[in-house]
Amino acid sequence: MTRRILGRNVLFSAGLLLLAAFVSTLCLPGPARAERAGIGWEESIAAKKGKAKTIADLAAYYDSSSCATCHKEAHAQWQNTSHSASIVGTGRTADVFWAFVQEGLMKWNHSGVKAIADVRVEHLMECAKCHLPQLADAEDGVAREIVSVLAERQGAADRKDAAAAEKATMKLKSLNIGCLICHNRNAVMHKWADGYPKDGEIYGGKEGTHPGPGFTVLKKSPIMGESILCGQCHGLGPNLEMANPTQCTTLYGSYIYAYRSQGGKESCQDCHMRRNKVGHETRALYDPKLIQSALDVKTVTHGFFWRDNRQYVPRVIVDLTILNKAGHAIPDSVSSNHRLLLSVTAKKADGTQVFSQEKVYMQVPQYLGRGNKMGRAAYEKTGVVEDSSLLPGEAVHEKFDFTLEPDEAAAGKNRKLFSELEVYVTIRQLNPDDAQNSAGHTLYQTSRTVTIEER
Ligand code: HEC
Ligand code: HEC
Ligand code: HEC
Ligand code: HEC
Ligand code: HEC
Repeated sequence: MTRRILGRNVLFSAGLLLLAAFVSTLCLPGPARAERAGIGWEESIAAKKGKAKTIADLAAYYDSSSCATCHKEAHAQWQNTSHSASIVGTGRTADVFWAFVQEGLMKWNHSGVKAIADVRVEHLMECAKCHLPQLADAEDGVAREIVSVLAERQGAADRKDAAAAEKATMKLKSLNIGCLICHNRNAVMHKWADGYPKDGEIYGGKEGTHPGPGFTVLKKSPIMGESILCGQCHGLGPNLEMANPTQCTTLYGSYIYAYRSQGGKESCQDCHMRRNKVGHETRALYDPKLIQSALDVKTVTHGFFWRDNRQYVPRVIVDLTILNKAGHAIPDSVSSNHRLLLSVTAKKADGTQVFSQEKVYMQVPQYLGRGNKMGRAAYEKTGVVEDSSLLPGEAVHEKFDFTLEPDEAAAGKNRKLFSELEVYVTIRQLNPDDAQNSAGHTLYQTSRTVTIEER
C-alpha cells in the first residue's frame, strides 16, 4: 500500500516535471518572442536582436554612423549637440553619473548596491530614462560595464592620465541619443494605438521607401513634429514612477503648464529646429540667435536729488522689466550652476565702482522630496524649495535704488555737477561646468549714463 502510494507519487512528480519543462519552453526568453502586452513588440530592434550584452552591442544596435553617408548635414549638426554624447555632456554629466553611483547608490542602505558588481540596469535607468533610454534593451552586465568605464574615467582623471580618460570618454560617447532613438525607438509613444516601432523602418514625416541599408521602409511618426517627442526626455518634474525618484530637467513641465496654458502656440521643433534653420543642431546656449531672442528687457534709469535729512544727495533708480519669450521657464532646472544672473553695476567716470548688486533666477530643488534643504545633483533632487526662474510670458519687474556721495569737485564753470555715472546691466546664464569662473552666455547687456546736476 505504501509502495503504491509511493509509486503514484513518483509518477505524479514525474508528470509535474514534464509539464514544468513544457511550460518553461513556452516561457523561454528568446529574441523572437513577445514579452509585453500588445502586438508587435517582437518586431522591434530590441526584441529582434535580443538584449545587448556589452556596450559595443548596444552601440551597434542604435548606431548612427551609417546614416551619415546620405544625411551628411543632419549628422554633422547632430554631432555638435549633447544628444550625440548624452551620458558625457560637457563632461559634467559623466561626473555626476559617477557621483550618483558613489554618493547615492553605494551609500543608500536599501539600493542593494555596495560594489560595481551589484549595479543593475534598473539602477541606471534613474538617469538613463532620458540620457540613454535604450539601456532598457540591455542586460545588467552593460550597466556594470558603463559604471566600470565611469570609474576608469574618474581614476584616469585623478592620476592625470589624459589619454586613458579620453579613451573612457570615447567609449561612453559610443552610447548616445542617436538617429535611431528619435527616428525609431522613441518615435512612437502610443504603441497600442499606433504600433511598436519596427526594426528596418525609419520614422519621419511621411510614408514610403527608404534607400538606407537595413532600413528600407519610411513610416510616418505621429509625434515627429510634436513637442511631446522632446517632452519624453525634457522633464515634467520629478520622475515619480521610479523606485527612488530623481529630478533633472523640468522644462517640458513649464512648457505645458506655463507656456501652452498662457496661449503659447509654438513647438520645441519650431523654436529649436525650424527657426533660424538650425535643423538638428538643437543647441540652446551656444546658438547666438536663439539666446538673443530669449528675453525682452526694458531698462529705465533716472537720477535726482534726494533730500536726506538736511543734505541733498544724488539718488539713482534703475527700473527693469524682463519678459521671457522662450516656450518654458529660463533657466531650466538642470543644475544650480546653470543659474541666470542679473547684475547691475554703477561706475564713476574714473572707473570707481559705486554700486553693484546681483539677482539669481533659478529653480531651487528640494533634497530627496523633504524638508527645507536644497538638493544638488539629479539623484538628490525631487520637488522644489523655491523658484525664482523666469516664467514664459510673465513680465518681471526689478528695481535697484541707491544713493551716492555728492561729487561737487566735479563741478564745472557754469554747472554744479553732483554726479555722473555709467550704469551697466547684464543678464547672463552661467556655464555649469565652470560656473565659478564662467563668463557665461550673455542674454542681455546695456549701459546708461546717468547725470545728476543742479540746473
Ligand atoms: C543610401 C542613402 C541613405 C542612408 C544610408 C540613409 N538614408 Fe535616410 N533617407 C535617404 C533618402 C534618399 C531619403 C528621402 C526619401 C524620400 O523622400 O522618399 C531619406 C529619408 C529619411 C528620413 C525621412 C525624412 C522625411 O521626409 O520625413 C529620415 C528620418 C531618415 N532618412 C533617417 C535616416 C536614418 C536614421 C538613417 C540611418 C539609420 C538613414 N536615414 C540612412 C537616404 C538614406
Ligand atoms: C526626465 C529626464 C531626465 C532624467 C531622469 C535625468 N536627466 Fe539629466 N538631463 C536631462 C536633460 C534633457 C538634460 C539637458 C537639459 C538642459 O540642458 O536644459 C539633462 C542634463 C543633465 C546634466 C547637466 C549637464 C550640463 O553640463 O549642464 C547633468 C549633470 C545630468 N543631467 C545628470 C543626470 C543624472 C546623474 C541623472 C540621474 C540621477 C539624470 N540626469 C536624470 C534629462 C534627464
Ligand atoms: C532628438 C531627436 C532627433 C535626433 C537625435 C535625430 N533627429 Fe532627425 N528629426 C527629428 C525631428 C523632430 C525632425 C522633424 C523636424 C521638423 O518637423 O521640422 C527630424 C527630421 C529629420 C529628417 C527630415 C528632413 C529634415 O532634415 O528635417 C531627416 C532626414 C532626419 N531627421 C535625419 C536624422 C539623422 C540622419 C539623424 C542622426 C544623425 C537624426 N535625424 C537624429 C528629431 C531627431
Ligand atoms: C531620448 C531623450 C531625448 C529626446 C527625445 C530629446 N532630448 Fe534633448 N537632450 C536630452 C539629454 C539627455 C540632453 C543633455 C545631455 C547632457 O548634456 O548631459 C539633451 C540636451 C538638449 C539640448 C541642449 C541644452 C543646452 O545646454 O544647450 C537641447 C536644446 C535639446 N536637448 C533640445 C531637444 C529638442 C528640441 C528635442 C526634440 C526635437 C529633444 N531635445 C529631444 C535628451 C533628449
Ligand atoms: C517660443 C520658442 C521656444 C519654444 C516653444 C521652446 N523653446 Fe527651448 N528655448 C528657447 C530659447 C529662446 C532658449 C534660450 C533661453 C535660455 O535658456 O537662455 C531656450 C532654451 C532651451 C534649453 C536650454 C535651457 C537652459 O536652461 O539651458 C533647452 C534644453 C530647451 N530650450 C528645450 C526645449 C524643449 C524640449 C522645448 C519643447 C518642450 C522647447 N525648448 C520649447 C525657445 C523656445
